[in-house]
Order: sequence, then C-alpha cells, then structure tokens
Amino acid sequence: MFLSEGHKYQVVFSLWFCFYLVLIAAQDNITDPTEVEALKAIKERLIDPNGNLSNWIRGDPCISRWTGVLCFNETLIDGYLHVQELQLMNLSLSGNLAPEIGSLAYMERLNFMWNKITGSIPKEIGNIKSLVLLLLNGNLLTGSLPDELGFLPNLDRIQIDQNHISGPLPTSFANLNKTKHFHMNNNSISGQIPPELWRLPKLAHFLLDNNNLSGYLPLELSKLPTITYKKPVSNIRWLGSQSVLPVSFRRIILPEKYPPPTKLLDLQSLPVTALQSPSYTSLHSSV
Ligand SMILES: *[C@@H]1O[C@H](CO)[C@@H](O)[C@H](O)[C@H]1NC(C)=O
Ligand SMILES: *[C@@H]1O[C@H](CO)[C@@H](O)[C@H](O)[C@H]1NC(C)=O
Ligand SMILES: *[C@@H]1O[C@H](CO)[C@@H](O)[C@H](O)[C@H]1NC(C)=O
Ligand SMILES: *[C@@H]1O[C@H](CO)[C@@H](O)[C@H](O)[C@H]1NC(C)=O
Ligand SMILES: *[C@@H]1O[C@H](CO)[C@@H](O)[C@H](O)[C@H]1NC(C)=O
Ligand SMILES: *[C@@H]1O[C@H](CO)[C@@H](O)[C@H](O)[C@H]1NC(C)=O
Ligand SMILES: *[C@@H]1O[C@H](CO)[C@@H](O)[C@H](O)[C@H]1NC(C)=O
Repeated sequence: MFLSEGHKYQVVFSLWFCFYLVLIAAQDNITDPTEVEALKAIKERLIDPNGNLSNWIRGDPCISRWTGVLCFNETLIDGYLHVQELQLMNLSLSGNLAPEIGSLAYMERLNFMWNKITGSIPKEIGNIKSLVLLLLNGNLLTGSLPDELGFLPNLDRIQIDQNHISGPLPTSFANLNKTKHFHMNNNSISGQIPPELWRLPKLAHFLLDNNNLSGYLPLELSKLPTITYKKPVSNIRWLGSQSVLPVSFRRIILPEKYPPPTKLLDLQSLPVTALQSPSYTSLHSSV
C-alpha cells in the first residue's frame, strides 16, 4: 500500500497516541514524589522503638498503606495521590520532627500526640494551609512557638499542651480565625498574652494553665462575663481594674454556647462561687 507523506505522519501520530493511552491506562496511581521524599525524611529523624514505621520503605505510601499515612481516596488535579492525614499518636516515637513535614502540602490532620519527640516545632508546618488539626500534645518539644503557625487559615484545633515549649505566644496567632481549641497548657510559655488572642472569633477552649505567663490580663477579658476560673493563684493581674486581683489560667472556659466536645478534655464550667472566696466572687460578678 502506498501512503502519501501526510498520511505517513498521521499513521505515526495515531500509533504514538494509542501507545500513550495504553501507558496512561496501565499506569498505577502514585503518591506525589515530593511527599514520598518528605515521609522518608520524617522517618529518618524519628526513633521508632516498636518498629511501627518499618513498612515505610515498601512500595508507595498511599497504595501500600504505610502505617499512619492516610491519603485522599483519589488522585488530585495534578494526577498524584496526596497525604491527607499523618496519624502517629502513642507509638513511643522519639527523635525530632523533620522540617520536610511542611511539604505535605494537602494534609488536613497532623497527629503526633503522646510520643517522646524532642527538639523544636518546625516552622514549615505553617506552609500546610490545608491543616485543620495540629496535635503535638504530650511530647518533649522545646523551643518557642513559630510565628508561622499563626498563618494556618483552616486550623480548627491546635494542641501543643504538655510539652516544654518556652518563649512567648506569637501575636500572629491572632490570625487563627477558625480555631476553636487552643491548648497550650503545661508548658513554659512566658511573657504576656497578646490581647488580640481574646478576640479570636471561633475560640471555645483557651487553655494556658501551668505556664510561666506574667503581666496583666487584657481589659477585653474583663468584659466577658461568663469566663470561669478554677483556682485564683497566679502572678497575672487585671489591667484597668481598681484593685489588683490575682487569677489563674488553670482552666479558662469561654461561654456556654460552646459545650465541651469530648469527655477526654475534662472541662467543666464552674460557678463563680467555686472561687471559694467572697471577695473574688463579688468582684467577678461585678465585672
Ligand atoms: C506499634 O507497635 C506495637 C509493638 O509492635 C504494636 O503493639 C502496636 O499495635 C503498633 N501500633 C500500630 C498503630 O501499628
Ligand atoms: C472519594 O471520597 C469522596 C468524598 O469523601 C467521595 O465523594 C468519592 O466518591 C470517593 N471516591 C472513590 C473513588 O471512592
Ligand atoms: C487511578 O485513579 C483513577 C481515579 O482517581 C481511577 O479511575 C483509576 O482506576 C486509578 N488507576 C489505578 C491503576 O488504580
Ligand atoms: C498508648 O499505648 C499503650 C501501649 O502501647 C497503651 O497501653 C495505652 O493505653 C495507649 N494510650 C492511649 C491514650 O491510647
Ligand atoms: C480574620 O478575621 C478578621 C475580622 O473578620 C479579618 O480582619 C482578618 O483579615 C481575618 N484574618 C484571616 C487570616 O483571615
Ligand atoms: C500540668 O501541670 C501541673 C502543674 O505542674 C501538674 O500538676 C499536672 O499534672 C500537669 N498535667 C498534666 C496532664 O501533665
Ligand atoms: C519562669 O520565668 C522566670 C523569670 O523569667 C524564670 O526564672 C524561670 O526559670 C521560668 N520558669 C520556667 C519553668 O520556665
């Protein structure tokens, strides 16, 4: 059979196109290579005494279901699978958090609760704009809170309680517009509480007890009538109040319209009389 030059090109092109389609159809969906590298870097920095992460070398993280790695059930627009959650709680992990964690760019839940992780919190976590839950509580983390964590527009819950965090509360946290749960208790956080934090629109639980905070309670707080306190002991004082009243941050609970969501939190509103001092009680009811 004789074909013109033009037809030859058409045939060659069609053949290539078919080959390409076959390739596409046969191709396994894979995890974004950047995220695979990030997971390897995360594992590299951790000490895993029980070998819970021992399958983090086999195959593809999302397809081979690496322990604690949960992925979106289908490829995203870029054609890759992506990590949706990292669930590594209570695995006796020590070591540090690798900065590459910030490359898990589509992640919604980051959970390292109840391990023995040391070192500081990577500022790169602030790159994960999709993050909804950031749970690092119950570790041995040191250093200060990175400003970058304040720029997580979808963050619903930030729990860094029960660590050894020092330094101040960043003013950037005033941008956490969606955050309902802000748990920073049982650390060594120092300095004053930025007054902007009391205006976070969604705040339900603001826990700062057992830290090293000082200075004055912002005037804004004194205008919120339903806040309750557990024990009136601390070096924190009212600003703008005639008499100076020491109060504590053992349990600060915002209005009743936000009921405690889980039993785990052990939160309960206390009546004003629980202050067990008539002078505190009367002052509280007068604010
Ligand atoms: C982690 O490893 C321990 C010891 O092998 C095992 O008992 C536990 O079930 C593992 N946890 C997970 C989540 O794989
Ligand atoms: C993936 O999950 C979404 C939402 O959770 C769901 O609508 C969709 O049907 C799922 N796709 C597959 C292939 O399971
Ligand atoms: C890859 O994912 C797409 C949808 O996300 C699905 O239709 C296809 O069957 C998957 N291919 C393989 C080989 O799993
Ligand atoms: C953590 O794991 C240990 C054993 O690995 C278990 O006994 C304990 O109940 C777990 N704690 C939580 C809070 O899951
Ligand atoms: C948070 O809300 C305030 C007031 O509505 C707005 O001015 C600010 O831009 C918002 N911040 C972010 C990060 O969305
Ligand atoms: C928090 O700190 C207080 C005072 O140091 C301590 O009594 C309490 O047990 C700590 N809570 C936890 C859950 O570690
Ligand atoms: C609290 O702050 C004081 C004064 O800045 C400092 O001397 C002390 O070591 C701090 N304590 C803790 C537990 O961080």
